[in-house]
Amino acid sequence: MTEAAPSDTDTAELAVSLRDVTKTYDNGVMALGPIDLSVRRGEFVSLLGPSGCGKSTLLKAVGGYLEPVEGEIRLKGERVERPGPDRMMVFQEFDQLLPWKTVQENVVFALTASGRLTGKAAAEKAREAIARVKLAKFADSFPHTLSGGMKQRVAIARGMAMEPDILLMDEPFAALDALTRRKMQDELLQLWDDTRFTVLFVTHSIPEAVKVGSRILLLSPHPGQVKAELNSLPRERADGEAAHALEERIHNMLFADEVEEDEEHHHE
Ligand SMILES: Nc1ncnc2c1ncn2[C@@H]1O[C@H](COP(=O)(O)OP(=O)(O)OP(=O)(O)O)[C@@H](O)[C@H]1O
Ligand SMILES: [Mg+2]
Repeated sequence: MTEAAPSDTDTAELAVSLRDVTKTYDNGVMALGPIDLSVRRGEFVSLLGPSGCGKSTLLKAVGGYLEPVEGEIRLKGERVERPGPDRMMVFQEFDQLLPWKTVQENVVFALTASGRLTGKAAAEKAREAIARVKLAKFADSFPHTLSGGMKQRVAIARGMAMEPDILLMDEPFAALDALTRRKMQDELLQLWDDTRFTVLFVTHSIPEAVKVGSRILLLSPHPGQVKAELNSLPRERADGEAAHALEERIHNMLFADEVEEDEEHHHE
């Protein structure tokens, strides 16, 4: 297995680090952990795990939305205790935009409400981000007139315009049709190539995790713990056989426990 985790000493390189993080909800459900993981600045990390293993819980914890969380979450060395514009989320749902504001206004609102930018600077930044996701023509449209994929692009544009320390993406393409989904993955990679923002990308699609992530973390079933981590393929080798082999290997790693359990049943 490839060990690609940054060491504890190069904290200047770290966007986010989690140490011994667990989350138990009010109803007594332990949803996550203990988790240790780090994301370097400019890194694109895919987080892959079965449904209910705590992926969304982990992202919300990094977002600062969950209190209390046991253990330690640091953003650029500082402890995370509340939400902040330094961490932007892109959710799976298409309804993350304010319906009474246009595309342009939605992005401007995030910039001004957070105090990031004001006036012309905010408008200019928003226009730029919207153009990057190829929606310049729709800047004055309202969200209800856009397709699901277009709305997700607006949410991504808004997240990127804020220039957060980390972009947290929770299955952002899961509700899209297969063709649009593939296109969105390509576009996201293109954006990442251009600006190297830091991303923690949750998915339960193995091919998607392999395609978009430069490093892939595998979580065990509920409560999720990091079970393995691998480097993805260099982009030029990511098509065809090599990708399939890696996907197969990840599949086997993710489901190894289940197979063992099944076999034990057989022996009973
Ligand atoms: N607000 C909550 N209160 C109580 N339990 C919760 C809450 N949110 C999530 N859980 C529980 O925590 C566990 C992890 O949930 P979470 O949503 O983080 O999983 P997930 O990996 O994102 O799943 P999926 O792939 O289906 O989105 C589940 O058992 C879930 O029932
Ligand atoms: Mg989830």
